[in-house]
Amino acid sequence: MQLLDGKKISEDIKNEIAEVVNKMKANGEKVPHLAAVIVGNDGASLTYVGSKVKACERVGFESTLVKLPSTISELELLKVIEGLNQDDNIDGFIVQLPLPKQIDDQKVLMAIDPSKDVDGFHPENFGKMALDMTTFIPATPFGILELLERYNVETAGKHTVVIGRSHIVGRPMSILMGRKGFPGNSTVTLTHSHTKNIAQITTQADIIITALGVPNYLKAEMVKDDVVVIDVGITRVADDTTEKGYRITGDVDFENVSKKASFITPVPGGVGPMTIAMLLKNTLLAREMRKT
Ligand code: GUN
Repeated sequence: MQLLDGKKISEDIKNEIAEVVNKMKANGEKVPHLAAVIVGNDGASLTYVGSKVKACERVGFESTLVKLPSTISELELLKVIEGLNQDDNIDGFIVQLPLPKQIDDQKVLMAIDPSKDVDGFHPENFGKMALDMTTFIPATPFGILELLERYNVETAGKHTVVIGRSHIVGRPMSILMGRKGFPGNSTVTLTHSHTKNIAQITTQADIIITALGVPNYLKAEMVKDDVVVIDVGITRVADDTTEKGYRITGDVDFENVSKKASFITPVPGGVGPMTIAMLLKNTLLAREMRKT
């Protein structure tokens, strides 16, 4: 079994990006500038956005954190987004999800200028992705592709089973794994809450990508020998023995599934850090596209 070490690979990527930024600075060019909008005080969301901003500092990007109250109206939020669209200094921005109930996610995502949509959630970018056109690929699926590529995991002709059909992970992942090229050329099955007899499907899988948010969902008896397992789950589970009072748990029963797997991502230290590294990569792409 080989660990797909997202922590290490994400550091490699950040070093590569930092080198590009150093060259930009040496040439007197503007460095990439990412803005992140967070609405409300959800602890996990604040942590994720904080990590994104910290990663910007680490590679030499500029960053702006826009913190808004949970009571903000949809109209006010749309005004903030329009401000970021118009701000020439900002190359790309994200609106952290989930959003409070009074706000329609889809309206917000549609309001983001596609050329600044470094999350790749705008329908124009999502459509381009599905059509193999150059665009921003959502950071978590992009990070998974990068991990598979850097560890040279064979995907062509393999049966990839994606568990969960979220717009952020499962749906784009199912499209990307079936695209032409590497990583890709997989035969993909997208499973979700209405899928019957899921174990019958997962035991046929060469590659399993779980994005459910149900701790220890994927058990050893649900996988075959030499399976490749990508665990996107990051659920906080109460744990009094830790300093923070919780620990992060994936969707996979790692202890037992890892005994059968050929490659597997740990949680934490697998997909999570890759998501942040790929957001930086998309922001660099946004800056480079704005130069032309
Ligand atoms: N919430 C969970 N993952 C993401 C992400 O990749 N982008 C945004 N904007 N919100 C998220």
